[in-house]
Formats: sequence, structure tokens, C-alpha cells
Amino acid sequence: MADMLTVEKLTAGYGPVTIIEDVDIRVGKGEIVAVIGPNGAGKTTMMLSLMGLATVKSGRVVLDGEEITKLPPYERVVKGLVLSLERRRLFPDMTVYENVMSGAYRRKDKEKIREDYGMVAQLFPIIEKRRRQLAGTLSGGEQQMVAIARALMSKPRVLLLDEPSVGLAPIARRMVFEKIKEIRERQGLSILVVEQDASLALQTADRAYVLEQGRIAMEGVGLALLNSEKIRQSYIGI
Ligand SMILES: Nc1ncnc2c1ncn2[C@@H]1O[C@H](COP(=O)(O)OP(=O)(O)O)[C@@H](O)[C@H]1O
Ligand SMILES: [Mg+2]
Repeated sequence: MADMLTVEKLTAGYGPVTIIEDVDIRVGKGEIVAVIGPNGAGKTTMMLSLMGLATVKSGRVVLDGEEITKLPPYERVVKGLVLSLERRRLFPDMTVYENVMSGAYRRKDKEKIREDYGMVAQLFPIIEKRRRQLAGTLSGGEQQMVAIARALMSKPRVLLLDEPSVGLAPIARRMVFEKIKEIRERQGLSILVVEQDASLALQTADRAYVLEQGRIAMEGVGLALLNSEKIRQSYIGI
């Protein structure tokens, strides 16, 4: 399978501080790949590095065959690498509609934007239902849906999701991951998702990586990892 995203020996951090080291990750076309790991392992730092928002010391980031390691963040977005941060990064005093459409602000293809909005509204019925409601007044689960919808409006080819289920009740978590699968099925999108809920992530992902103290400690097929003794002991707690 051709890689949509290839991360090669990426070492990165903040200024002089190194947080992740020699990280190798690949995401194939239409694949859902998860990165799990404990708090503080460097998962968010890795996502920020992919977007050009942290300090990369060495290694490469390749998007669909093109090296983007040194591009500024917005150029990566234009090329189709889009990161959805936690839901609290929505504009709380803007409406649901305005938040969703803000994802398309760099796009000029008006026809296609309208088409994509239709697709996103169909995927997340909440968007039309709460179109004029201020985003800050939505429930946590609803805000997460809006955040993902906004990312989809940027027309990603590879969608990066940083802990989409954080702070949500179990039912809302499950719903978010159902939507992630639906997005892949409908659009063939490649998705890299960082998640603390290891059980949910491994059930959803085709493949997964375990990041521990800034390094890839394990990798494999999602369900295989889910059933591995070490993962169960360290991350599932059974
Ligand atoms: N802006 C920053 N400057 C310096 N260190 C940071 C910054 N953000 C996070 N860190 C440190 O990087 C490490 C990894 O954090 P993070 O990437 O957020 O982990 P995770 O997302 O896996 O919980 C932590 O030790 C954290 O304190
Ligand atoms: Mg994090």
C-alpha cells in the first residue's frame, strides 16, 4: 500500500529540549492508524511536529511522496495535512456554522466547499440542528463533532486527530470513534489518531503504535496489540 504519510526517524521537541526520538510511523491510503501511550509520552508533541508547530531536530515528514519537513504549518494544511486539536480550541463565541466553515477559510473552490459542507452536515446531523448555537454552549461530545467537522472542511488528505475522546463520557467516546470509521469508509481518508483510551483506539485502528517516553516501543495490527499481554497489562488494566 502506498504511504500517504511517512514519518522517518523524527526527533523533535521544544527549542533545545528533545521530547520524541527516532519516531517512525506510516499511514497508508485509507488507513486508520492509532498512536497510544501514557500521559506525557510525547503524543501531542509528535502531532505538533508533523504540522511544523514544534522544533524538528532531525528526520523527515513525507506527505504522499513529497517531503514537507520544513514547510510552514499553513502550507501543510493546503497540501492536505490537517490537525484537529482538542475540542476546547473551537471558537466558543462563534456559531456552530461559523466554526465549521472556518475550516475552509483558505479555500477558494466555492462550489466544492458547499458540497463538502453538505457531506459534513450529513455525517454530523448536530451541525444543522445546532447551526446557530454558540459553540461554547454545546456538550463536550458535540464540540468534538464540530471540531472534526471543521477539520474536514479543510479538505484533508491525511487527518490528524489528537485525543478526540478526551473528557467525554463513554457513550460519546464510542460515537466519536464510530464517526472516525464512517469518515474513512465514505471518503477513503487516511487518519492518524492519538488516543489515551487504548481499548477504543485499538478496536478502531487498522494498525497502531505505542509511544513511550518519546520512542516507539511497539507496533502492530490494532486487534493484535489489543490482545497482547503487555498492552493489556499496561494500558487496558485487565
Ligand atoms: N511547549 C512546551 N515546552 C516544553 N515542553 C513541553 C511543551 N509542551 C509539552 N512539553 C513537554 O513534553 C512532554 C510530552 O508532552 P506531550 O507531547 O503533551 O505528551 P502527551 O500528549 O503524550 O501527553 C512533557 O514532558 C511535557 O511537559
Ligand atoms: Mg497530548
